[in-house]
Amino acid sequence: MKLPPNSSVLFDSQTIRSRILEIAEKVRQYYASCDLGEIEMVWIAEGARHFADALFNAMNLSIKMRSIKVSSYGKSFESSGDVKIYDSINDIKARRVLLVDDILDTGLTAKTVIAKLKSNGVEEVKTCFLLNKAEKNKGCLKPDFEGFEIPDKYVFGFGLDIAGEYRDLPDIMAFDY
Ligand code: IMP
Repeated sequence: MKLPPNSSVLFDSQTIRSRILEIAEKVRQYYASCDLGEIEMVWIAEGARHFADALFNAMNLSIKMRSIKVSSYGKSFESSGDVKIYDSINDIKARRVLLVDDILDTGLTAKTVIAKLKSNGVEEVKTCFLLNKAEKNKGCLKPDFEGFEIPDKYVFGFGLDIAGEYRDLPDIMAFDY
């Protein structure tokens, strides 16, 4: 596959896998004393698929998992500021939700989903992001679990896309535009 010009590897697949094992252990420890039947892992499609699968397998906790389709980027490199939740999440009735996404950018997506979950009666929402553009979002939402802080660059690979492409790259690449 031809890569876009001016792109380079930010994290290779081995580094990503090792970090996911560390996050999974932290999540396991956090939920160790909880009733597993009360917990649901909810991941944001499509971008978080690779991360959520790897995390779920590494956590080895028998909890429910589901995805919800949310979009705010469309085909652009900047958030539209308009978050659309395409799936009904009204039937998520778990007491505790672990919300998993590939990247925390402006924080708008996560904040919108958290507010919706809370208004449905979910008591606790913990967040887990593989990547965090912390400088860009100025810590507006502090992840409970996170993989890597990254600079404000557009990234792709390992589930993250550029207009629907490059999701299946094993590494995470940074694209200077
Ligand atoms: P936020 O609402 O601005 O935090 O954006 C979150 C969503 O935007 C993520 O779930 C991603 O789908 C997408 N996104 C944000 N930054 C990037 C990026 O650098 N590459 C690919 N997708 C991104």
